[in-house]
Amino acid sequence: MSQDKKYIPYGMQWIDEKDIKKITDVLKGSWITTGPKIHEFERAFAEYIGCKYAVAVNSGTSALNIAVASLDMKGEVITTPFTFAATSNMIILNGLKPVFADIKPDTYNINPDEIKKKITDKTKAILYMDYAGQPCDIEKMREIATEYNIHLIEDAAHALGAEYRNKKVGNMADITCFSFHPVKHIATGEGGMITTNNEKLYKKMLLLRNHGIDKPTSERFGSQASYMYDMKLLGTNCRITDFQCALGISQLEKLEMFLKRREEITKIYSKAFEDIKEITTPTIKKNVRHAWHLYTILLDNSINRDEFFNLMRAKNIGVNVHYIPVYRFSYYKKFRINPKEFPVTEDISNRIITLPLFPKMKNDDVRRVITEVKSTLNEMKK
Ligand SMILES: Cc1ncc(COP(=O)(O)O)c(C=O)c1O
Repeated sequence: MSQDKKYIPYGMQWIDEKDIKKITDVLKGSWITTGPKIHEFERAFAEYIGCKYAVAVNSGTSALNIAVASLDMKGEVITTPFTFAATSNMIILNGLKPVFADIKPDTYNINPDEIKKKITDKTKAILYMDYAGQPCDIEKMREIATEYNIHLIEDAAHALGAEYRNKKVGNMADITCFSFHPVKHIATGEGGMITTNNEKLYKKMLLLRNHGIDKPTSERFGSQASYMYDMKLLGTNCRITDFQCALGISQLEKLEMFLKRREEITKIYSKAFEDIKEITTPTIKKNVRHAWHLYTILLDNSINRDEFFNLMRAKNIGVNVHYIPVYRFSYYKKFRINPKEFPVTEDISNRIITLPLFPKMKNDDVRRVITEVKSTLNEMKK
């Protein structure tokens, strides 16, 4: 009976003995936070991305919060409704209004044509998100940003390792934000990173990570150091610990292996589902490297997605739904958004389902998911 088999989650970390040793080494030393591992992780990350600056923080949400705050904007920011709530929440938390633009039916990324329809003189930035790990149409975003003189922020929580025209995500927007939550490409427990090539923004984001204080703790330590510091901006504590950064450095060394294994699994899935008429498998655009944070399938209208979800969960397959459109949450009611304005988001969010995908997944687990998808569809068709 499939119910007796172990639960396969949709995502999870892969932490080995080497990672654990790196963490415990730091825990045995004197700096467990605000120490040298933070900068070491930032340098390793910036080198991987090929960008000038990286700022390590305590979550992807903090990364977004600091990114938006650093641009000192008043007005509106255009974003996707087909994302985790943190993307648009950080716009609101910074006193700005989120304005949603519908997504594309093939990649589920924000549609540049829809963005253009939403631009007014109040628009200050576009905050786009690379759904599932497939980069948005970044060239078009840049064209729009240049034409209207607005900022570009990239929520790349799904897209560590992704490339657009052979260039790593993390280099294209004014500021890019990553997450190291355990279901993401690399895990630090909680954690995130911000990248930019703009020195002024980098310096401001360093301040915002630490209450707006101009001198880090490490510079106020020791017999010759002064106690003096200034608080130049209003910020909060978004710092990450040294032992998390030690884990991040160690995980980064395995990132290419993680990415390759993710891709390998998605190929097995897409091949297995290619002839099933009720299933549409993901579209991959030319000129991108997909980072495969999520593998989603789209069910046709003959299959009730929620019933499919319940049957799969009953078989201990940890399917999920990414995403409930953000404007549907009760907090967002005050923005009086009409879902009919987002026909693509509405349609996709009603039919999409996420299948388990993580590098540690065994081929037997992949085969079990495929078998259960097929048998569930057959049960539903009876
Ligand atoms: C698209 C997106 N943005 C932002 C976040 C927030 O990241 P974190 O959980 O690290 O705060 C997530 C995490 O789930 C996400 O998927």
